[in-house]
Amino acid sequence: VVLVTSGPTREALDPIRFLTNASSGRMGFALAQRARMLGARVIVVSGPTTLKPSAGVRVEFVTTGLEMFKRVMALRVKADVVIGAAAVSDWRFENRSPLKLKRGPGRLRLTMLPNPDIIKAVATGRPPGRRQIVVGFALETHEQLAHARKKLVAKGLDAIVVNGPAALTDKRSQAVILRRDGSTRALPETSKAALAAAIFREVETLW
Ligand code: C5P
Repeated sequence: VVLVTSGPTREALDPIRFLTNASSGRMGFALAQRARMLGARVIVVSGPTTLKPSAGVRVEFVTTGLEMFKRVMALRVKADVVIGAAAVSDWRFENRSPLKLKRGPGRLRLTMLPNPDIIKAVATGRPPGRRQIVVGFALETHEQLAHARKKLVAKGLDAIVVNGPAALTDKRSQAVILRRDGSTRALPETSKAALAAAIFREVETLW
């Protein structure tokens, strides 16, 4: 089983407003399609997206980071490979107003609480006696490799796919794959389908 997190998350402030990001969900769905082509059973836990998953891929839609966390923690026990391609909100609003917030004369102060790091929880809590490869993504604007290496170690991942902010919305992506053993593989700018294929080639060598 290949488990993929995908897309953005939404953190509600009131019934109308939410915090989200520009993630399209394309990378996650491309990974799912590739895993399917390789013959795996595939489950995608996806935030809101208008994309249509390819045939044979099971998609479970969630909205918030906490919902994604709960679904992934429930599904991860049966996964051989877990790939975190979702752009999860690092924070959620401490208080979600049940009523639409009204304009006031003064400033509005909002408090946010940290969301759990989903891929870190998966990588550091692997089921005992079961082989499981865990891969994350890192979106970095500068010092890409150094920052990504820190994330790879801090989250306990087997590999991390590094790319720039254009990757969030673009159809194409330029990436470097860093492995836990320190080796790196720089990929030319390619489609997300080709990047997904390259990621699974790495996963196979990690297995
Ligand atoms: O720390 P950063 O958000 O840059 O790490 C990105 C990686 O961590 C991605 O694989 C993303 O899916 C994952 N992540 C997560 N849960 C979070 C934040 C990030 O799984 N709350």
